[in-house]
Amino acid sequence: MNTVSRKRHILGALIALGLAAGAMPAHAVQKGDWLIRAGLGRVAPDDSSSGFSGAPTLKVEDVSNSTNLAINFTYMMTDNVGVELLGALPFKHDIAVTGLGKVVETKQLPPTLILLYNFSPKSGVRPYAGAGINYTKFFGEKTVNGLTGTSIELSSSTGLALEAGIDVDINKEWYVNASVWKIDIDTKAKSSLVGTADVSIDPTVLFMGVGRRF
Ligand code: NI
Repeated sequence: MNTVSRKRHILGALIALGLAAGAMPAHAVQKGDWLIRAGLGRVAPDDSSSGFSGAPTLKVEDVSNSTNLAINFTYMMTDNVGVELLGALPFKHDIAVTGLGKVVETKQLPPTLILLYNFSPKSGVRPYAGAGINYTKFFGEKTVNGLTGTSIELSSSTGLALEAGIDVDINKEWYVNASVWKIDIDTKAKSSLVGTADVSIDPTVLFMGVGRRF
């Protein structure tokens, strides 16, 4: 290709790109919009634990991953700034203790409130990030295997949450979303047999779903 035809070639490609971009409908998110997203949330704990007060060599060794339906709502207070609430059906986790394996089953609900900043509200591809607060309530704790017949209780947790996410438009109302939260969740496990332990769960929560704008 000589220089002139190469220039024409590049020009042609740029024009085609420009036409394609121009043909993309301009879907904006703006002040006053409600964004609703539903999909699957996966809670992957990065857990660590102290020893139990009555048996210091025993620790929580593993808190299992859990996946369930999740939903989140965002209200845009300005074109760029929104407030988001994350909710879900209960996540179920197995808890393993040193040398005993799985001894506890529990459920938890982790509602999380985030103040977020949308970096490109006028675009069909909209990344955002934010920070906020999480409240996690554990319930339905059940002892199994080596701890059967004893009781255990996990205290609720309040802590910091960070989030990043992206919406990609499908059409005027609908979009797909992927988002991730890092949440500080710490609980005190109180066992009728081995006393108390401080357990840090600190999960990464991954979400993928579809969203609609109202
Ligand atoms: Ni923590």
